Amino acid sequence: MDKFIINGGKELEGEVRISGAKNAVLPVITAAILADGVSVIRNVPDLRDVISMCSLLEVLGAKTNFENSVLTIDSTGINNYHAPYDLVRKMRASVYVLGPLMGRFGRAEVSLPGGCAWGPRPIDLHLSGIEKLGAKIDLDGGYIKASAQKLKGNYIKFKKSSVGATGNVLMASVFADGETVMENTAVEPEITSLAETLVNMGAEISGIGERTMKITGVDRLEPMDISVIPDRIEAGTFLTACALTGGKLILKNAYADHIQAVIEALRRTGVKIESGKDISIESDGMFRPVDMITDVYPGFPTDMQAQWIAMMSVAKGNSIIEDTIYHDRFTHVAELNRLGADISVENNRAYIKSVEKLIGAPVMSTDLRASASLIMAGLRAEGTTTVQRIYHIDRGYESIEKKLQAVGADIVRIRD
Ligand code: UD1
Repeated sequence: MDKFIINGGKELEGEVRISGAKNAVLPVITAAILADGVSVIRNVPDLRDVISMCSLLEVLGAKTNFENSVLTIDSTGINNYHAPYDLVRKMRASVYVLGPLMGRFGRAEVSLPGGCAWGPRPIDLHLSGIEKLGAKIDLDGGYIKASAQKLKGNYIKFKKSSVGATGNVLMASVFADGETVMENTAVEPEITSLAETLVNMGAEISGIGERTMKITGVDRLEPMDISVIPDRIEAGTFLTACALTGGKLILKNAYADHIQAVIEALRRTGVKIESGKDISIESDGMFRPVDMITDVYPGFPTDMQAQWIAMMSVAKGNSIIEDTIYHDRFTHVAELNRLGADISVENNRAYIKSVEKLIGAPVMSTDLRASASLIMAGLRAEGTTTVQRIYHIDRGYESIEKKLQAVGADIVRIRD
């Protein structure tokens, strides 16, 4: 397994180009199932999750080609509705094939994704939403077995705002007879981008970006030709990394609108940040503590919680960070403490006692965003930090070490 060796203490300075968003491209790839023919997706990040999703579509019978950030998917040959455990267990987002398979073919067998390193992540809202459209769903042998003659539009009110459930039910509903009204939908930019992609393919959707969406079923969709939105979490990660190490970064191809909560929080710490066409940040590595509570968009993203904790560990005072979306998402805390941080967790809150400095040590990645927080802490720490099990980071950050090296970080990948 690859690992990173980081010699900390270097400021970050220069330009970083933000890649296409992982969480936007994954549902868009599965949306290609909805139309016969060749879909073209541009600005696609080269990530392990993208490769995994392509492998899953190939198993279903599609043909994919990924070169120079352009992914083409020919879904003409899809003739298999079975998403096997071996692929789904590697990536929870595989469950995004359920909606399109049901929408297009009225049949799907998708392995249940199971839990992940930080607790159970249910999919009950995906299933009840698709059931409301008239599907029969059984859970059998670890698989979701779903079928329907013809889905019918209905009124669906999600008891909780869920990115995945909104995306899946949206894709299931595009061909449903009549009208589907979804209430309490997720309004994360990745869902807006999915809905816009479906409109690009010929779907009739109103209320995009709002909490109530209306879908009028159509008879067919055309293949898409779209470009993936920039990754707001990658942008937020580079901003907090620079705030932590000190230095000056300019982010290219980032949408400040999508990370207002992070930009606002950084401003409150006292670091200088400006957003126009690019986002620029300047920090001397000294900043005030800012308490944070994660929330659904446009609130502070749970996907930035681990990075915020890493930054706050050396703020000029104590802070409290609460995760309201995922209560167990704190596996990075024990590893950050190995680097000298002083953080305790009670229920869904991290209590951070600020320390003077972090000191390099061997640490282990436990999930994608935890890995990002450990790399950031390693960049700030005195001495050498080894981050093991970095396959997690390769799932969701494109060439992170190369991007960091280009702005002055001392980080190398050791291949096993
Ligand atoms: C997506 C993102 C993930 C991010 C999360 C929250 C992708 C591929 N992943 O995950 O990076 O951290 O949004 O912004 O886009 N819930 C239920 N029942 C369900 C579904 C969800 O109770 O059927 C709960 C979850 O446990 C969680 C909350 O709803 O507490 C939000 O989860 P959700 O928005 O569905 O997250 P994902 O789509 O899995």
